[in-house]
Amino acid sequence: MFNFFKKKEKDIIPGLLPFSTDIHSHILPGIDDGSPDIDTSLQLVQGLYDLGIRRSIATPHIIGDMYRNNASTIFAALEKLKEACANAGIHIELSAAAEYMLDDYFLELLRNNEPLLTIQDNIILTEISYTSTPENLDEILNGITAAGYVPILAHPERYHYFQQNLSGYQQLKEMGFILQVNILSLAGYYGKRAQKAARFILDNDLAPLVGTDLHHHRHLEALSNADNRILFREVLGDKVLNDLDLVLKTA
Ligand SMILES: [Fe+2]
Repeated sequence: MFNFFKKKEKDIIPGLLPFSTDIHSHILPGIDDGSPDIDTSLQLVQGLYDLGIRRSIATPHIIGDMYRNNASTIFAALEKLKEACANAGIHIELSAAAEYMLDDYFLELLRNNEPLLTIQDNIILTEISYTSTPENLDEILNGITAAGYVPILAHPERYHYFQQNLSGYQQLKEMGFILQVNILSLAGYYGKRAQKAARFILDNDLAPLVGTDLHHHRHLEALSNADNRILFREVLGDKVLNDLDLVLKTA
């Protein structure tokens, strides 16, 4: 009986996500490993809206040997989704950038002075391989800053190398990366090591940004889970998150 009431009380107070701007997701239809079609995209956007997201910057992958997205593929998919949202009456501000894998293809884009797709102003979202950190990360970062961009590094808590070297997160920050934690890492969605690393990063105020990295319905279910939402609030409740203007001022 006691447990029943306790559970019920918890169900009443999970609340919304502790941020209203999402800077990392794969909700655009049919261009990466995220949403496969417009119906799924619409359901994912509705889910984000129901969790309190009012501004969403979609970030499809650009990975040389898998998803060679560019401005045309991304903005065509964005327009499709915007139109579907307008027709469905979902009032959310949608825009798009990309999640750039820091691979040879990315270096080629930099060398060719291709304009990169930015989250806001000159901020780009980047990722590295989960299993092996590029040896020339320093050099790549120099190339990014020389081209006038400020890089966010997505989900640092998921990279195996850094999970075993937590002090490396401070170094990444000092190098000039702005760290963005996936909120689902806090709930253990990506395993215990990523969970521990996410807590370390956030408890030490090393990441001003969090994101959903929403790809599919399983992510949405985990984001909507009442216990998880209470946990997100407990860990992040007092922090100023996802204020891109502030991030730029301090970058
Ligand atoms: Fe992502």
